[in-house]
Amino acid sequence: MHLIETRNLTYVYPGNVTALHDINFIAPRKARIAVIGSNGAGKSTLFKCFNGIFTPSSGSVLIRGEPITKRNIREVRKFVGIVFQNADDQIFSPTVEQDVAFGPINLGLDEETIHHRVSEAMRLVGIEDLADRVPHHLSSGEKKRVAMAGIIAMEPEVLVLDEPTAGLDPQGVRDLLDIINSLTMKFGMTVIFSTHDVSLVPEVAEYLYVMNRGRFVAQGTVEEIFCQPEMLQSVRLDVPVLPKLIRNLQKRDIPLPMAYRFDEVEQVLYQAYREKRP
Ligand SMILES: Nc1ncnc2c1ncn2[C@@H]1O[C@H](COP(=O)(O)OP(=O)(O)OP(=O)(O)O)[C@@H](O)[C@H]1O
Ligand SMILES: [Mg+2]
Repeated sequence: MHLIETRNLTYVYPGNVTALHDINFIAPRKARIAVIGSNGAGKSTLFKCFNGIFTPSSGSVLIRGEPITKRNIREVRKFVGIVFQNADDQIFSPTVEQDVAFGPINLGLDEETIHHRVSEAMRLVGIEDLADRVPHHLSSGEKKRVAMAGIIAMEPEVLVLDEPTAGLDPQGVRDLLDIINSLTMKFGMTVIFSTHDVSLVPEVAEYLYVMNRGRFVAQGTVEEIFCQPEMLQSVRLDVPVLPKLIRNLQKRDIPLPMAYRFDEVEQVLYQAYREKRP
């Protein structure tokens, strides 16, 4: 049984805007999935169907094999935690600490557990110093971290991140990669994220869905998707810069094996240099 599955999911906004057409998506346990697509592709709309914020116009969304209903919606929201693209949609308490505690309090946890989860989540995303600040007055990157801490503190089995790196500084992006790695490795969380920043994808995801105008136009592993530059360009995306560099060197008859992740590319170039040296 999959943690999340959509079957022929279609979603039509009022005004007859069809944002999702016949989407078949699967999130197995412990997967790391990226949904990539240009502006308006339907990523945020899809994610809002994962925890019942939007109800399908046709087709279905199954969580652990069960459709979302009024009766199980609380359980579903505990199970699937979504960090929205716009943190302002998610932050409303008078202080950062209270905001991060809001979800765990709603879960009815005891005070000690709440305190522990809140301080762990704030530590993980690096916002301990902001604990007493008014969330409303934070910078957008800071708000993003607060929103993320609030969801992490609820310890969902599936963490859904909509454009998690948008607006983060370079250290913030590196921190985010570490956070995702530790959540998946230590706690076995399943992570689904959307982005149009393709460079990040090989560092985090194992499986990709490529979305365009409300449809999935391709899906596969990092290797399967990023060897299709024409397909990616046709939907306003691109191959990440590192595999692109290797491909360009290959075209110039430099025999390098393809690589996608930063550490793999470093190794490939280092190896090639060592082999060439007299
Ligand atoms: N409330 C709404 N009413 C009508 N149409 C909407 C609404 N929200 C989104 N849409 C439309 O649905 C489509 C998908 O939008 P969505 O926000 O899901 O895209 P996205 O892939 O998340 O884009 P971005 O990369 O810009 O965040 C777009 O054509 C958008 O204009
Ligand atoms: Mg979006």
